[in-house]
Amino acid sequence: MSIDVEAVRRQTRGVLSVTHLNNAGSSLVPGSVMDTVVGHLRREEEIGGYEAAEEAAVRLDEVYSSVARLVGAAPDEIALAESGSRAWAAAVYSFPFVPGTRVLIGRTEYAGNVVALRQLALRNGLEIAVLDDDPDGLVDVQHLQRELERGNVAMVALTHVPMANGLVNPAAEVGKRCRAAGVMFVLDACQSVGQMPLDVQSLGCDVLAGTGRKFLRGPRGTAFLYVRASVLERLEPAMLDGHSAVPTGAGGLEVRGDARRFESWETSAAGRLGLGRAVDYALALGLDAVQERVAGLAEEMRAELAEVPGVIVHDRGIIRCGIVTFSVQGSDARNIRSRLAEHRVNVSVAPSPFAWAYSIPTGTRQGEDMVVRASVHYYNTHTEVQRLVSFLR
Ligand SMILES: Cc1ncc(COP(=O)(O)O)c(C=O)c1O
Repeated sequence: MSIDVEAVRRQTRGVLSVTHLNNAGSSLVPGSVMDTVVGHLRREEEIGGYEAAEEAAVRLDEVYSSVARLVGAAPDEIALAESGSRAWAAAVYSFPFVPGTRVLIGRTEYAGNVVALRQLALRNGLEIAVLDDDPDGLVDVQHLQRELERGNVAMVALTHVPMANGLVNPAAEVGKRCRAAGVMFVLDACQSVGQMPLDVQSLGCDVLAGTGRKFLRGPRGTAFLYVRASVLERLEPAMLDGHSAVPTGAGGLEVRGDARRFESWETSAAGRLGLGRAVDYALALGLDAVQERVAGLAEEMRAELAEVPGVIVHDRGIIRCGIVTFSVQGSDARNIRSRLAEHRVNVSVAPSPFAWAYSIPTGTRQGEDMVVRASVHYYNTHTEVQRLVSFLR
């Protein structure tokens, strides 16, 4: 089944106002998602926040089943959160790190995750080891294998699709090796979820974090966390509240047994319902069809951009996704973004993948090279791709 582009555009009000090529930032939400959010906020206004949540209790619970279906997990293995970073950190900060052990990451690890790991490394006396890239820019699984064999590895943390590169890391290969070595594998799927099928069983990850607003087309301030049932007990949340644990008589604590141990009690019910609606929308379209459309449009954009004099396309990888990064000789990326915005074409800018990748070990940025990031979704059209290309010409 392929995507009915006319239909999805009819269901997306934003396409009437903008050419939105910033889906890796935050996608245009389907009308039904926004109607769900606003509808619940109205009920809060009309009958009260707690009462509206009670009225929507069944639908709120169904959000967990929807997210679980999206990633091939059980509902008990899903927690909801307000950002991908918080979801990721909720699991990672709960890991019982032993001083002197190592955390392995790829060169395209998300910057925020690197900051969090640096703090954990400083606190716990850990070493962060950065895995090499292979010639295609993917995390080098042979290097990973050698490091796992050297031993003393507490965790492997990988970003599936980097913030500013069209590549898709070989997460399943990494998962297979981590499983064989008995090492915790944490996958940041914030940029991959919603633009390709994900299955935690075949990915072999113990933890997966996803955000709502990017390719999933959910509302801002929504995210989710998957934690494999078999590792839940090992991860005692770094922070608890009355939702995640109860005091026991003997002066102790009983932490919830499911992944909701990583949640806080207070939350945006409207946001969660919107997230659930967005997940159901993606599932109804089919993630295989979504991936085919998104990857196809992005390849078309790369090919067209490569023909424009002065434009350099930076994406690497073998399997590529909806993120396209490029620079224009003699032009500042921020300036290109502003000029495009004047024509109501939305793109974003990001640090050059190369500058970032090689700065991780030392933490010092090598220059402030910026690239333009144009990220497509299935509702974008050939005409919109042409609009960007013609502007650059
Ligand atoms: C690869 C990657 N991981 C994690 C995040 C963080 O997600 P959030 O902004 O929801 O915390 C981002 C956001 O840009 C990202 O690109």
